[in-house]
Amino acid sequence: MSIIRSVITGVGSYLPARRMSNDDITKIVDTTDDWIVERTGIHARHIAADDEKTSDLAIHAARAAIAHSGIDVQSIDTIIMATTTPDNTFPATAVTVQAALGLHHGAAFDVQAVCSGFVYALTIADTFIRCGQSKTVLVIGAETFSRLLDWTDRTTCVLFGDGAGAVIVQGSEGEGTNADRGILTAHLHSDGRYKDKLYVDGGPSSTGTTGHVRMEGREVFRHAVVNIADTIRESLEATGMTIDDVDWFVPHQANKRILDGTAKRIGLPPEKVVITVGEHGNTSAASVPLALDGAVRDGRVKKGDVVLLEAMGGGFTWGSVMVRW
Ligand code: UT7
Repeated sequence: MSIIRSVITGVGSYLPARRMSNDDITKIVDTTDDWIVERTGIHARHIAADDEKTSDLAIHAARAAIAHSGIDVQSIDTIIMATTTPDNTFPATAVTVQAALGLHHGAAFDVQAVCSGFVYALTIADTFIRCGQSKTVLVIGAETFSRLLDWTDRTTCVLFGDGAGAVIVQGSEGEGTNADRGILTAHLHSDGRYKDKLYVDGGPSSTGTTGHVRMEGREVFRHAVVNIADTIRESLEATGMTIDDVDWFVPHQANKRILDGTAKRIGLPPEKVVITVGEHGNTSAASVPLALDGAVRDGRVKKGDVVLLEAMGGGFTWGSVMVRW
């Protein structure tokens, strides 16, 4: 049976030039390199320059993904941008990217699902493509998360960083089997009962301020390992695959211990897990495409490989996308 599949044809990413090491952070809050590395696996994060906005990071990543795919930029008919740190409360940062790319057609909008934002945006792109709404979608995850941090709170400020990643997704005919290239299955979840476990204490309609990140780290950690393992299992069930069929696991990069715990829980060998959190910390919606770009460009992810993307974050929100590259 012939069906439309959403194929990722290009990937790109961008990290701001300023690198802040754990030693740099010890000059700001009472912490140590040893504590941060042992509890999180993070060695450094990148911080946007004062005049660099989320849209600037996104445009760099988008241009890299467009160049990688080789498409004519004018063929993009939809831009879906996942971010928790928009340039302005409105308009959507996606329209700033659209204008910078010289596009005056199609649709551009933002998606807000915090660290799960890229998985949400990619799933929306897949749905739009399969139902005929879009043909070529630019999906971006971009954040200047450093601007939401309370730089006096050592329990959160050591964890996050800024960055952007992007993919080009295009419709292509498939046979409807797991041998098809493209997105094979996608699953999204949220559970608002846990909205106060990880949140920002401000907003346009509550305080009129931007606010700062607040988190019950242990609670988030506990839920993350369970929810991520569950959504991986549902991906496998939906496709009839086993964990041995997965070539690469490209998770949201929040904490190396969460990734190790999840891999153990689902029986995935550590060498199949792409881990980049050490170099850029938790970049929220940017982290999955940043990790994906690294693994594609260094030759680990090859055509035909089965790649499992997942994320979990504030809300709680979580989800997974399984792709044959
Ligand atoms: O994208 C999804 C969003 N976030 C996450 O996935 C994060 C999930 N949670 C985590 O990654 C971990 O819970 C953390 C890394 C945030 C914390 O690790 P933990 O092993 O859960 O530590 P803890 O919160 O239980 O704190 C242990 C101790 C505490 O001291 P006491 O009360 O035992 O004396 C903290 O005050 O570590 C202390 N602590 C620190 N010490 C040095 C907390 N932050 C720091 C710090 N440096 N930066």
